[in-house]
Amino acid sequence: MSSQDQAKRAVARAAVDSVAPWFGTDAAIGIGTGSTADLFIDELAAHRGSIAATVASSERSAARLRSHGIRVVDLNDVTDLPVYVDGADEIDGALAMIKGGGGALTREKIVAAVARTFVCICDASKLVTVLGGFPLPVEVIPMARAYVARELAAIGGQPRLREGFVTDNGNLILDVRGLQIRDPRGLEQQINQWPGVVTVGLFAARGADILLLGTEDGVREIRRA
Ligand code: 5RP
Repeated sequence: MSSQDQAKRAVARAAVDSVAPWFGTDAAIGIGTGSTADLFIDELAAHRGSIAATVASSERSAARLRSHGIRVVDLNDVTDLPVYVDGADEIDGALAMIKGGGGALTREKIVAAVARTFVCICDASKLVTVLGGFPLPVEVIPMARAYVARELAAIGGQPRLREGFVTDNGNLILDVRGLQIRDPRGLEQQINQWPGVVTVGLFAARGADILLLGTEDGVREIRRA
């Protein structure tokens, strides 16, 4: 197993402590998407009898949860979501993130908006000074693809259609290279305003509250200032 995989496994295990206070209650737990979230789901399997319900940010995670016998409910049926655990493609010191490498950015953003606490789990390679090294995903309604791509190029990005990929919502993803994102909140707001954009994979207005970072020296916990 690579050291990156070991780090992912360590943070997935550590994240169980973040949700343990709601074991044995009727609270639902928010579950993210990606390889690190998959490991977290596998860790939850041992506690399936104590978990009343989960809300998943993708069909992929919902299927994995169900395969472990963990109940998945619709977000619309939940009035309070105390905690959401998910990975990130990049995260900065202020706990703003790029997400959507797995294409689940819109549902992730919706679940994150409802959650009281967002716990981000990732290995140390994801922590960066300036966001943008990882191509920024933008989910677009199909007829807006070319228009939004032109707008992204006009702000200095190099958008590329994610070939052969359709989101859980039936839309497309543009992955944007070449952006040095020094104002994540401003860029999130700007891109989200363009007609046809469903959402941009910048999580700055609602970033993480807690980062569990897998390092060679173990799991570091960083809280939003
Ligand atoms: C999926 C995501 C994931 O959280 C992100 O891609 C990180 O994935 P991984 O844990 O596989 O590195 O945003 O849409």
